[in-house]
Amino acid sequence: MDDDDEASVATERELGLPMERLTLFLDRFIVSLSFLSLLTTAIARGGDPSQHPLPGVADAGDSILTRQLFEEKEPVITDEMAGGYMSNSELEEAMKEFSKRCANISRMYSIGKSVKGFPLWVMEISDKAGEEEPEPAFKFIGNVHGDEPVGRELLMLLANWLCDNYMKDPLATLIIKNIHLHILPTMNPDGFALRRRGNANNVDLNRNFPDKFFPMNDIMQTRQPETRAIMTWVKEGHFTASASLHGGALVANYPWDGSEWIRKQYNACPDDRTFRYMARVYSNSHYNMSLSKEFEGGITNGALWYPIYGGMQDWNYIHGGCFELTLEISDNKWPPANELPVLWEYNRKSMINLVASVVKTGIHGRVFSKDGHPLPASVMIKGINSMVNASSILGDYHRMLAPGAGKSYQVSVSLPGFQQKTTQILMQDSSASLDFILEPEDSSKIRRIPRILGCRCDGTDKLELVQYLRGIQLEIYIVVSICLFLFILFKRKWFLKLVNQRHIVTPKRSIV
Ligand SMILES: *[C@@H]1O[C@H](CO)[C@@H](O)[C@H](O)[C@H]1NC(C)=O
Ligand SMILES: [Zn+2]
Repeated sequence: MDDDDEASVATERELGLPMERLTLFLDRFIVSLSFLSLLTTAIARGGDPSQHPLPGVADAGDSILTRQLFEEKEPVITDEMAGGYMSNSELEEAMKEFSKRCANISRMYSIGKSVKGFPLWVMEISDKAGEEEPEPAFKFIGNVHGDEPVGRELLMLLANWLCDNYMKDPLATLIIKNIHLHILPTMNPDGFALRRRGNANNVDLNRNFPDKFFPMNDIMQTRQPETRAIMTWVKEGHFTASASLHGGALVANYPWDGSEWIRKQYNACPDDRTFRYMARVYSNSHYNMSLSKEFEGGITNGALWYPIYGGMQDWNYIHGGCFELTLEISDNKWPPANELPVLWEYNRKSMINLVASVVKTGIHGRVFSKDGHPLPASVMIKGINSMVNASSILGDYHRMLAPGAGKSYQVSVSLPGFQQKTTQILMQDSSASLDFILEPEDSSKIRRIPRILGCRCDGTDKLELVQYLRGIQLEIYIVVSICLFLFILFKRKWFLKLVNQRHIVTPKRSIV
């Protein structure tokens, strides 16, 4: 290489200007990328971005294809098989009847419409349905996949059971008095009517959410109306925990569903211990889920079973602070309707115990300013890299945690404009109560407070932007890496010279 000095110099002269531009361009890019990473780290909820290096780009299709094979094996649902299940309009009628019969403990509302315009009806069950209370909210979603209709039937039975047993059964009473339970029996009425997995556009709704690990479903316009409805609902709802009901297996599945490795491997989320506890509550209360030969204890980490991307479960945890399980409640996706009463008996205790677990465990409380305003502060536990937010209306927060008498947690509460507060709490066997009063930050930063108090402060818009930026970040990283590599490879010497020049140009700090 040394012999080629002259040629090199000539080339350098020729390319001098563009190269300089390129360097400047790259510098700016790298600076802005570092900034983006900081932003991401600061705002993203759940998961530590630094623990997740950039995923490989190839092979992403493989396991996604594997999942689609499930679809191809699906049997055709005959009219005879569909007999005994409620049609969409019969379900709607049953819900209306329920809210008339149980008006004292419920209300009915719609969160949007399916592609074909069918309302996505929800029943809220609570002694103060529709009112704000400093209580946790739980949601159940059935029939995400059109050809998995058991959930929608069981959810209707659950609502009626709670209504019938209010003030008679201690758990029914506890749920109605202390929790706001929201039930969406069918998320995919069009798919149900068509007796197939996808919605009316044949999109699998449980692959249609923005993904944590790969930039997908990030464009609002291509999102299905059913998915959009759920996303808005979650962002406004302040849910503590939830579960969606599926069929085709018997197991309680918990996050992460996805992984950057694209192969089957346990991918623990920051709240792994709590999620395993919640999944256990379901499987242990079930008739025989915990006896599974395929899944130890009848529970599984999603990515270990088989990774999926764009799922609803991970999205809820990351963007809603909502601890969601995916429950597979019958090996047969579409069993004969005469099996429904038995399936209800198998799942009844599980469903009730899971809902009740949001008040029986965890840390609950409210956050106020010194002058008594509720604050939408963020609550974090030392050693667990995830966050739940207090509600902006009442300042109440509900932090799910696996129970453990004698276990001690360090709880930090923070909100821009206020001093962070940290305290240690020793857990008993049940849930704990912990309120906070935050002091304003020193006066130099105080001017930020009014703006922050004026907004809803859930960081929703920021999250969307960051997510979008994270999406393009991967592509930018790859392009920049390739450019840098080629640049250094071809212009090594020129590069070194440039670096030396910089050393000279950079003003030295005085060391007087
Ligand atoms: C649970 O019980 C059902 C109905 O008896 C049976 O079909 C299924 O194989 C059982 N599953 C396990 C894991 O024991
Ligand atoms: Zn399903």
